[in-house]
Order: sequence, then structure tokens, then C-alpha cells
Amino acid sequence: MLKGKMVFLRPVKRSDLQNFLKWFNDPEVIQYVGLYLPMTEMAEEKWIEGLAERARSDTPFVIEAIEGETTRPIGNIGLHQINNKDRSATFGIAIGEKDYWSRGYGTEAARLIINYGFEQLNLHRISSSALSFNERSIRMHLRVGFKEEGHQREAIFKNGRYYDHAGFGILKDEWKGL
Ligand SMILES: CC(C)(COP(=O)(O)OP(=O)(O)OC[C@H]1O[C@@H](n2cnc3c(N)ncnc32)[C@H](O)[C@@H]1OP(=O)(O)O)[C@@H](O)C(=O)NCCC(=O)NCCS
Repeated sequence: MLKGKMVFLRPVKRSDLQNFLKWFNDPEVIQYVGLYLPMTEMAEEKWIEGLAERARSDTPFVIEAIEGETTRPIGNIGLHQINNKDRSATFGIAIGEKDYWSRGYGTEAARLIINYGFEQLNLHRISSSALSFNERSIRMHLRVGFKEEGHQREAIFKNGRYYDHAGFGILKDEWKGL
């Protein structure tokens, strides 16, 4: 469990299934992420069941917003494709509860998981990416300390056209220097 002031990050539970189905079938949420096929209950169950086997390469957490004495699950965050030779991983985040966008939750959750990656998993580098029109995500990446590392031109097809993909990276020394 990773605890901040506004959020804490906890491991995925089977009972998260219904929230995942709601978030990852919401067109307003998935317009910003790589998903594009309908998310079925069967596929989601399979993904959850596979987590134990993938534990060394994939560390997803659920973001819980702290609201006084209670908490509310609002989205997912994780380090994926963990590579033990290069000490690298890929960052991903999606806040599925849209009324929690633009209120600082993503920034705090991102800082918690980046710190976990460098200080607990001993990573050297964390990579990430965002669609060129996802300005909120791009600002969040820069705010937490990612450096922009170039655009892949017309890499992602969404809504009838191609979009550029912005690449980001942060190194352990850079994080420690912040
Ligand atoms: C992209 C995403 C993760 C960003 O998280 P977020 O919580 O919405 O973003 P934040 O609130 O941290 O940052 C947005 C704004 O909140 C403001 N903010 C930051 N900390 C704050 C705080 N403590 N209190 C209030 N506002 C705050 C920031 O100033 C920021 O404004 P700016 O971007 O104009 O500078 C989230 O919007 C999301 O999941 N969107 C849908 C899926 C998605 O895009 N995923 C990412 C794919 S790459």
C-alpha cells in the first residue's frame, strides 16, 4: 500500500471487476488510452486472474481517493513491462471516475508510483507516453518530472484519424534530484 495525502494505492482485488468494466467501457475515458475494443467481463476476469503470474513484470494498483474516514476507488495506475536487466518499466494511469479529473489526484498518484519504482523496485528508468491531444496527461507528466523524449508521428488511430504519440522518460537520478 502506498499512501499519500489525497490518495492511496492498493493492490487489485477481484471485487474491482465492476469498476474496471465501468471505467474501461466509458468512451470518454478510453479515448485517451490504448484500449479500443469492448471490455468484456470474461477478459477482465482473465486479466485479474493472470496478475499473480505476472507479478514480477506488472504491478498495477487501484487509486483510492481519501475522503475523510472513507475512501473511494477512482482509477488504476501501474508500472508495467518491468525489465530486470535494463531496470526499466512503463508507467500507465487512468482515472475512471471523471469527476475526479483535474483535481490533483493523478499528480499525487503518479508521484507515489514513480517513487515506488525507483526506491522499492530499484528501477533506473521509467518510460511513458500520451496521445498528442491529451493535454491534461502531458501536463501531469511534465509536472511530476518526466522529460519529453520525442513524438512518434501519426502512430495512433482514433476517431477516424491518426494522432502523434508523445514519449516521456524519467531517470532515477532525475527523480532523486527533484
Ligand atoms: C490524465 C490523468 C491521469 C491526469 O490526472 P488528473 O488527476 O486529472 O490531473 P491533475 O489533477 O493531477 O492535474 C490536472 C490539474 O489539476 C491541478 N492540480 C494539481 N494538484 C492539485 C491539487 N492538489 N488540488 C487541485 N488541483 C490540483 C493542476 O494544476 C492541473 O492543472 P494543469 O494541468 O492545468 O496545470 C487523468 O485526467 C485521467 O486519468 N484521464 C483519463 C485517462 C487518461 O488520460 N490517462 C492517461 C493516458 S496517458
